Amino acid sequence: MKNLTLIFIAFVILTACKKDKAPVTVVDSTCTQTISFADQILPMIQTYCISCHDYGNSTGYILTNHSNISANASLIQNSLLGTSVQLMPQGGPALNDTLIKQFSCWINQGKQNN
Ligand code: HEC
Repeated sequence: MKNLTLIFIAFVILTACKKDKAPVTVVDSTCTQTISFADQILPMIQTYCISCHDYGNSTGYILTNHSNISANASLIQNSLLGTSVQLMPQGGPALNDTLIKQFSCWINQGKQNN
């Protein structure tokens, strides 16, 4: 019985770790859902971008908070799509459509710090 409990706990931990760290919320095409900077945008940048875009990196783009992310928002959007600028994350693959869509909805909603 003890063994079974341990196996169960190990299973729960393993499946929890498998989850994608970035939030994946279904975003409808008309952006009716309000995107949260703190819960959706910042965690996405932290998961996929911060390793190269933090202080001390030499990319020239620091993406750590609402003010520097919103100041570079259109450039970031282009980079996610790979239009006019290099596709990011550098070396690919591109993020999934939901995350990209979520980012453009956030821009359309006025780049709120919410
Ligand atoms: C593996 C490292 C790495 C990761 C991860 C990464 N970047 Fe970059 N990024 C770079 C480098 C290096 C440059 C500078 C490219 C150059 O100047 O040639 C850059 C440039 C950029 C630029 C400027 C593009 C331009 O051409 O002016 C933007 C915007 C950007 N990154 C956004 C992002 C976003 C958003 C993410 C996460 C989705 C991300 N990056 C993930 C390395 C990375």
